[in-house]
Amino acid sequence: MKEDFEPEILAFCCNYCAYAAADLAGSMRMKYPANVKILHVPCTGRVDVLHLLQALEQGIDGVMVAGCLEGNCHFETGNLRARRRMESAKRILQEIGIHPERVEMYNLSAAMAKRFTEITTEFTERINKLGPSPVKLKKGRERWGRPAEKAKEGSPGA
Ligand code: FES
Repeated sequence: MKEDFEPEILAFCCNYCAYAAADLAGSMRMKYPANVKILHVPCTGRVDVLHLLQALEQGIDGVMVAGCLEGNCHFETGNLRARRRMESAKRILQEIGIHPERVEMYNLSAAMAKRFTEITTEFTERINKLGPSPVKLKKGRERWGRPAEKAKEGSPGA
């Protein structure tokens, strides 16, 4: 792996557990990798397969979903739905040749600040080993499948 690779990681964190655990970790001055960008969601049941795939498509190298412990979801089965969706996303990634380990689901409680630092560190190390996402979209017009050269030429519809 290139030494200058800094993985970009998105963490969907449930309001009632992982987000609170991250907040607690911050208050306790615990450290977790700066590569991890937290996206606050009301419940992991709100996270769809498309959200996971679109994050990868937009250039994120790894996506984690962190929800309440099983049996403790404030919306009863949100974290169970999230786990099933995570398994679907892994299957889709496997089928299209993307390493399924680029996405992962974790369960923790609001009091588990140390666990939050551990999972974010472990996941960052995993993505660091996998390297940059192979599906990062190219810049500009290449994003939509148009060769950059054609776009520069000002061809019709450019
Ligand atoms: Fe936390 Fe549903 S409320 S996962």
